Amino acid sequence: MKLTGVRITFAAVAALFILAIGLAACTAKPTDSTAKVARPSKPGGAGQAVSLTGDAIKGADIFKANCVRCHGEEGKTGVANAGSTDGTVPAITPIDESLISKDPKTYATNLDLFIEHGSVPAGDNPALSMSAFGDDKTLQPQEIADVIAYVSSLNPPK
Ligand code: HEC
Repeated sequence: MKLTGVRITFAAVAALFILAIGLAACTAKPTDSTAKVARPSKPGGAGQAVSLTGDAIKGADIFKANCVRCHGEEGKTGVANAGSTDGTVPAITPIDESLISKDPKTYATNLDLFIEHGSVPAGDNPALSMSAFGDDKTLQPQEIADVIAYVSSLNPPK
């Protein structure tokens, strides 16, 4: 009789313990490494550009020719974007912090996904969307690598 009581107590304590661990696991906050990274609305994987070495000097010219009209000089001032929730095209200097990574390939991939496939911003009827420079073949993989090198040089990892 005494022995059964001990057994039951032990089983109850063990059950509570398992429950507590389960609860802790479910309510644990995500760490920084699992924080949500901004992604474009258009689907698709990384392009060839992420395997190439970019030249930031060449990228500056490509940026002037293709990106300044929406993101402003050096990406510092996005132009007005009627019908979008933000009201303007996002500045990309400083860029959305979730896109920055200390790992060069991860950083390049985060930028590449937007540049390859484009993205429609949130809002009823945005006048401007991010163009799909890779899918449209407006830029070649090496040019995309160069512009990625330029944009990441403007926003170095801290
Ligand atoms: C026609 C206007 C337009 C042009 C041209 C344009 N963009 Fe964009 N870009 C946008 C808009 C609008 C967004 C926001 C998309 C969203 O919210 O999903 C954006 C988003 C981005 C983002 C993601 C930034 C963030 O905060 O999420 C990057 C990176 C980017 N653009 C880079 C470039 C580069 C590099 C070029 C030139 C090769 C370029 N863009 C040309 C309109 C443009």
